[in-house]
Amino acid sequence: MKKIAVFTSGGDAPGMNACIRAIVRGAAYHGVEVYGIVRGYNGMIKGDIIPLNSQSVSNIIQRGGTILKSARSKEFMTAEGRKKAYDKLQELGIEGLVAIGGNGTFTGAEIFYNEYKIPTVGAPGTIDNDLYGTDYTIGFDTAVNTALDAVDKIRDTADSHDRVFFIEVMGRDSGYIAIQCAIAGGAESVMIPENLTSVDDIAAILQRGFDKKKSSSIVIVAEGDEEGNAQIVAKNIKDKMDENLDIRVTTLGHIQRGGIPTAYDRILASRLGLGALEGLLRGEKNVMAGVVNNQLIYTPFHDTITKKKPVSEDLIRMVEILST
Ligand code: F6P
Repeated sequence: MKKIAVFTSGGDAPGMNACIRAIVRGAAYHGVEVYGIVRGYNGMIKGDIIPLNSQSVSNIIQRGGTILKSARSKEFMTAEGRKKAYDKLQELGIEGLVAIGGNGTFTGAEIFYNEYKIPTVGAPGTIDNDLYGTDYTIGFDTAVNTALDAVDKIRDTADSHDRVFFIEVMGRDSGYIAIQCAIAGGAESVMIPENLTSVDDIAAILQRGFDKKKSSSIVIVAEGDEEGNAQIVAKNIKDKMDENLDIRVTTLGHIQRGGIPTAYDRILASRLGLGALEGLLRGEKNVMAGVVNNQLIYTPFHDTITKKKPVSEDLIRMVEILST
């Protein structure tokens, strides 16, 4: 394989640049020509594809976002869109792809591989950490630390005013950010999609705190929780407990997607980027590179998108025990 392309797709994640850098530098090391596809699958369809070399990725390891930009492509979900993308890759003679992204990215990559057989290896890049086949995804650690910084600050004001705060963190179908923030931030409780916690449960936990003269409480809510978002949960708690309860809601939102990647994310991204590239050059295809128990492994795209990576029961239990 002498010519490959790399792209980032779906929600961006801090560390994607470190991953791109590892792929480009690794390709230079192995004497492989490398292109960057701009704006994910949309760029593939349009032929927005640029040559990259070692210098193109200088000074990016510490930058959040992605120099290749990202998008969620509707057109790539159509057979016509994918045909256009294939034609553009053929024009340039691209023989293999490295896809950096999450669930949606790998769903597209699997369909594309089945139709056109262009070998593709993925590197898991999403703050949600919801991919089977890797213990951690690129960007998760940074997102947790960003959210945690906010939780610590909110704790100060919550305490000054004797308030209850509901803090909503990202995670469309996943409670990984929420559970880690809850443990590290000493939250009273956490609501995540993987575990049923009702409004009654939260009311009981808050009441227990009031009985013990706790002056403030923090509940972390994953945006994808089955009880609704933090606004809805807070309203239901007021209705249930006391209209005059001093409650505030903070939604952290996209702040969690940006910023300087942590050392952990830069190293993980470099390892996964190089691992994805070298896997591709060795003949891996239709798989995602991941790190499980500190070992680099490859998992079929199909498994990464269909299998669930459960949040550890131990962690869920720990939030409850440590907040008593
Ligand atoms: O998948 C990453 C993520 O940040 C989710 O946590 C969140 O639900 C979603 O992306 C938001 O997507 P967008 O930036 O397209 O609104």
